[in-house]
Amino acid sequence: MEKAKLETVARMLVDAQRLVVLTGAGMSKESGVPTFREAHDGLWARYDPTSLATPGAFRRNPKLVWDWYTYRRELIAGSAPNPGHHALVALEDLLPQVVIVTQNVDGFHQQVGSSDVICLHGNIQENKCFDDCQGKPTLVDISRLEWDAETGPPTCPYCRQALVRPNVVWFNETLPVAVLERAQQLSQDCDVMLVIGTSGVVYPAAYLPMIAHQSGATVLEINPSPSGISQIAVQRLAGGSGELLPLIVDLIRQLKST
Ligand code: APR
Repeated sequence: MEKAKLETVARMLVDAQRLVVLTGAGMSKESGVPTFREAHDGLWARYDPTSLATPGAFRRNPKLVWDWYTYRRELIAGSAPNPGHHALVALEDLLPQVVIVTQNVDGFHQQVGSSDVICLHGNIQENKCFDDCQGKPTLVDISRLEWDAETGPPTCPYCRQALVRPNVVWFNETLPVAVLERAQQLSQDCDVMLVIGTSGVVYPAAYLPMIAHQSGATVLEINPSPSGISQIAVQRLAGGSGELLPLIVDLIRQLKST
């Protein structure tokens, strides 16, 4: 990565008054968590998405979907946030407003102490009643339940009818309204949006950079490959976020100290 490009991006960030950082699976790649769509090692490459992350798939085969989430939870439990996550925390001390809008469900941004994180697609560590029988969402603490894990997910302890499922947003499901509205408002109001590690093909998350761009914000991207966002980004740093974000934060520190 040529230093000049990093300096250009750092200069575009140093004066940001209302920065929104939109992150995707690429943000956690250097933590050892596979992304979804990268052919050679993306999670989806090994599984057919429609056979796993949809309400219909869960109804048809709850044990398969539950076991896939158990596999992902164990993968995440064995991984850790990377220097990119920590660099975004450091950014909060350098800029007046930094809000993270993430598509990721691994909880890494919260784990490293980012103070304002909007989770568009939920949190893989949480579970809820499939029918949200006590209201949206009806969270269930499965650590307090006894059931035969061989059979798949437990039954909801409240309604004793529906099964328990991960508290994440699946394909063909809508995002929580308040979460999406806040993310859209922030995208409209920001002066800079830094988009990190997303292919930009899943909506409505992929609309957010468009909203920012149309509202006059500067859109920047960190991604080793071009994405659905690249054409509206004024700069794309072609590298890994775990490597580049700490370098950018150091450059911003230098710019602020001069
Ligand atoms: N640093 C930054 N970006 C990276 C890195 C890295 N080290 N490695 C890969 N990438 C980029 C890839 O080039 C790709 O553009 O991360 C992106 C990952 O894209 P996807 O796998 O499509 O993940 P994402 O965009 O987050 O998917 C969006 O789709 O499956 C649903 O709900 C799921 O939240 C997910 C949504």
